[in-house]
Formats: sequence, structure tokens, C-alpha cells
Amino acid sequence: MNWQAKDHELIWHPYQAHSAAPTNRVIVKGQGSLLYDLEGRSYIDAISSWWVNLHGHCHPALSAAIARQSNELEQVIFARHTHKPAVQLAERLLGLFPYLGKIFYSDNGSTAVEVALKMCMQYHAHHGHERNQFIVLSDSYHGDTFGAMSVSARSLFTHHFERHLFQVLHMPGPDDPAHLIEAFETACKRQDIAGFIYEPCIQGSAGMKMYAPELLEQLLQIAKSNGVLLIADEVMTGFGRTETLFVSEQMPTKPDIVCLSKGLTGGYMPFGATLASNEMYAAFAVEDMTKTLFHGHSYTGNALACAVALASLDELQKPECFEQRRMIAQSHASFASVLSALPSVRNVRQKGTILAWDIHQEISGYRSPIRERIISFYAEAGILIRPLGNTVYLLPPYCINAQELAQLYQVTLEFLETL
Ligand SMILES: Cc1ncc(COP(=O)(O)O)c(C=O)c1O
Repeated sequence: MNWQAKDHELIWHPYQAHSAAPTNRVIVKGQGSLLYDLEGRSYIDAISSWWVNLHGHCHPALSAAIARQSNELEQVIFARHTHKPAVQLAERLLGLFPYLGKIFYSDNGSTAVEVALKMCMQYHAHHGHERNQFIVLSDSYHGDTFGAMSVSARSLFTHHFERHLFQVLHMPGPDDPAHLIEAFETACKRQDIAGFIYEPCIQGSAGMKMYAPELLEQLLQIAKSNGVLLIADEVMTGFGRTETLFVSEQMPTKPDIVCLSKGLTGGYMPFGATLASNEMYAAFAVEDMTKTLFHGHSYTGNALACAVALASLDELQKPECFEQRRMIAQSHASFASVLSALPSVRNVRQKGTILAWDIHQEISGYRSPIRERIISFYAEAGILIRPLGNTVYLLPPYCINAQELAQLYQVTLEFLETL
């Protein structure tokens, strides 16, 4: 049996129903915005490999940073120990969030959220307050671990575990602002609310649903004025996907906690970070062991991840990268106006480097059967895409060039013609 067949026999892949035949594409190489399969066919990575890649695959500077670090220190226990890349990264990241003062490292987006929820609950407990409820927006998604699932929408993803999830207050969605604000104000006035966790301005997994910074600002102000802590989950939106490095820059009211992952290492390594305010940290900083934040993963503060994250930040902050993001955004905006005129397309939306649209279908949402057709059509045309049901989106690495973007748009039009 060749190793390809063994993949099917041995590996349980994520978010994938079992099937009789092996269907997983073998990728042997990545270069810039392209991935290459076993037969040498190339695919434009139009979704940055699940929203993680920033500067392209096998980026020389990022690869070199990992190689360098791997010859000095790859990993050390992060309790009572530290290392230079961890401190340098903390300084760089906190410099981007001047209102936050401490960083807690973990492994991925879900764990970054778990840490945030624990910080928030324990913060209130240390102040002697019985505040342990969270407010979430309808259709939110914050990860697959139990705490993260609890603060996410109840859905296909969570229904087998619902009994075991802690209760949260689900608000109406941002597409119904009047009801949302009314319900939100009422919820924030309750005395048991610990925090509001939100995906700022783009609910990614819900189908790249976008909402205005002005609406979010209104919610943040209501929450703040009622003593509700703010957790910005920038796992998907962070590191330049939108007009700013982080969406939280677009609202005057700032969060108490920010969760980061995905683009944190430029797409090279699993890594997560939870950034907290000094006020939050101060509630834990006492000589009382019961007031410790009892949380830590074996690979917390991994030195390779810190080193590559630093190299990725260097790239991200170069004027060339900013220029690329601007070029992608402008290019998306022009194509958005073409798409909006087509009868089979609904709700074209764009924020920075993210462009999304819905294909008009009888069955919409995650289970829409058109999804498989879209995936195959684009794959045949050399494009890796992963629609959210009948929602198609483009979220490319920043190194993508104008020709590759034009190919994404052209194939999109060709697909729409088949409908
Ligand atoms: C907003 C948001 N938060 C958290 C997560 C979970 O991240 P991870 O898959 O790294 O656990 C995701 C993943 O898509 C996400 O989009």
C-alpha cells in the first residue's frame, strides 16, 4: 500500500465526513501563493490555508528565522523560565496595543479564547463579584474546545455537546441592529455578566458576515459603561486582513483582552496569544496561590513560534506589504462592483483583503449542496477555495500578484456562468 492510501486508512481529517474513497489532495510543495500537488499541478491558495498564511508559503525570511532559532533553542518549559524571542515578541505585539500590558502565550485560536474566558471570570471572582455569564452575538464562532464552543453559536458544530456547554446570552445578529442594541443594553445591565466576546466587524465562520465599526462601537460603549469586560477575538481578523493591522484600531473604545492566533506566525506554526490589560493582570498579582491563573500548555511560549512570529511581523510592517494589501483591497473593490451586477450573486461584501459573496440558492447556509460543486470547479481551474455553504470568499496571502487575482476573478465569473 502506498503512503497516500495509508492517509485514508490511518488519519482522521478535520471537518470531514467519512467517505469510502480517498479524496484528500496531496500537497508536496508550497511557494508564495501557490501550492503544488503530487502531479505537479499548482493551486492558488485563495484562502491562505484556513486564514493562517500571510506572506506566502515557504517565505525565505520566515523559514530562515525558524532554522536559525532551531539551532539555538527550540523549546523550554515556560513556567519559571523565559527566552529572548518570547520577550521580544511580547514587546512588539504589546506595542501594537498600547492600552494592553501583558501577554499570555498558548497554542491556537481556541486556546487563546479559553485563556481569555478564564481571565475574565477569575478577574471578577477576585473582585468578589458573581459575574460569570458571557454575551455573544448570534452566529459567533470562537473555536472548538469546550469553552470556545460555549461562547459560539449553537449549531451543527456543537449540537452533540450542547448539554455540556455553559450557558451564555445569545444576542440577535448585527444584521438586525435595532433588536441587537435593545437586547444588548438589557443584557449588559444584568449583574452577572462577566464579558462580551466578539469577532470585530467580521464573523468569519458564520459566512464572512460583515458589520460596521460604528455598530460595534455602540455595543462596546454600552458594555464598558456597565462594567462588562470586552474580549476582541481577532484570531481571524488580525495581522492586516482588513484596512488596519487589527480591527480593534477602528473603534475608539478598546478591548480589555485581545485573542490572536492564525496569522501570528505568518502561517508557519500553531501559536496563540491572549493580550490583557494591566488592570486585568493586577487582579491576579498577589501573593495568594488561589489567585493564580492556573493555565498553561506544554508548548506555551515555544521559541520557534516566537522567532517566526517576529520574522512575520517584520514582513507585515514593511511598506511593500502594506502596498500589497492596498493593491488586493482595491482590486477586490473593483471586482465587487462587477459581481454586484450579476443576478446569481447576493450580498457582495468586502473589508480590506477579504471579499465575500453569496450565491443565490434555495438551500443556503453551511449545508448548501452547491459547496461541493464550487470546490471542484475552482480546483479544476487551479484554485484552492473552501466556501462556507453558498458563501464564497477570497482571503489570499498578501504576496498574491495582480495576475493571480485576475485568475481568481475570471474563474469566479466562469463558475457563475454555469448556474
Ligand atoms: C474568530 C475565531 N476565533 C477562534 C478560532 C479558533 O482558532 P483555532 O482553529 O486555531 O483553534 C477561529 C478559527 O477559525 C476563529 O475564526
